[in-house]
Amino acid sequence: MDSVELVEVGPRDGLQNIKALVPTAIKIKLIHALADAGFKRMEIGSFVSPKAIPQMQDMDAVVKGLGPLPGVRAMALVPNSKGARRAFAAGVMDLEMVISMTDGHNNSNVGRPTAESIADLAYLLQEVDPDGKLTLRIGLATSFHCPFEGLTPERTVLGNIEKILAIRPGLEFALSDTTGMAIPNKVKSLATQALAEFGDRASFIFHGHDTSGFGVANILAAMDAGIRSFDTSVAGLGGCPYAPGASGNIPSEDIVYLFDRMGVATGIDLEKLMAASEIAASLEGALPASHVRAMPLANALALSRAA
Ligand code: COA
Ligand code: ZN
Repeated sequence: MDSVELVEVGPRDGLQNIKALVPTAIKIKLIHALADAGFKRMEIGSFVSPKAIPQMQDMDAVVKGLGPLPGVRAMALVPNSKGARRAFAAGVMDLEMVISMTDGHNNSNVGRPTAESIADLAYLLQEVDPDGKLTLRIGLATSFHCPFEGLTPERTVLGNIEKILAIRPGLEFALSDTTGMAIPNKVKSLATQALAEFGDRASFIFHGHDTSGFGVANILAAMDAGIRSFDTSVAGLGGCPYAPGASGNIPSEDIVYLFDRMGVATGIDLEKLMAASEIAASLEGALPASHVRAMPLANALALSRAA
């Protein structure tokens, strides 16, 4: 049986886009419900400036309150080496550093051009983490499209992967459609080239948004290219506050339902995931967007179990 890895990013990508502060205890409840549904890897939040994203100001309390999550890799997003130091101090060693492939978005998102983020990454890896204690993935934001610069040239993304691998080989990269404007053939093309050029010294994951309705198709296109790890978000919550016009992530429940029906193992229990989805969808200010949520639950579960 074919299998894929789904990485749940709702507690980070989903919550960062909600203005009303979600109480720490509810964040913890959501993360526990997602772990209970079977996610083995999850982005639990970000160590970013509380001025930039007030929703993430309680990260230390979230990490403390979570306690151990046996068998779950709890990751956090960081925008810079300062965020990585905060994560270390909180005991989170599994990180995603976000670097946009366009200066326009990088300046808007993390206040500096792409090259400066890559230099800070080199500092982080060489000076802060010389012994390689950190597990790091690089979130290649705006890999397909930038809200300020339009379509991103494939060579720009591939060139940056090359530069980053020269600093430390073996990293994981998230080809990220931050604005949700990518189309399947472009996802397949970039993923195919990335795997062909760097597949022997890097691993790849696809992170998409569903702005133009092609999110699911884009995941299947990445899979066609050979990628087997995908970010999804419970109830489809999500969006970068620094990418105007972008809508939510690809809903976890839609992808679990689809893979169940395709006979592709995800390790996620759809019924338990729907319980987590209820928590996420009922948050003040949440904009749930999943198709499975709109189906009669008994029908969805029966079809997903029939495969
Ligand atoms: N966590 C908390 N505080 C941080 C920080 C971090 N990771 N990095 C920098 N800061 C602090 C600085 O110490 C400084 O504090 P001060 O005002 O008390 O002196 C302040 O933030 C401003 O830092 P500066 O280096 O001037 O950067 P900036 O104002 O351009 O902000 C970021 C840069 C990266 C901190 C900010 O843009 C950010 O957090 N962006 C994240 C955006 C995001 O989460 N997007 C969605 C996910 S992709
Ligand atoms: Zn995103």
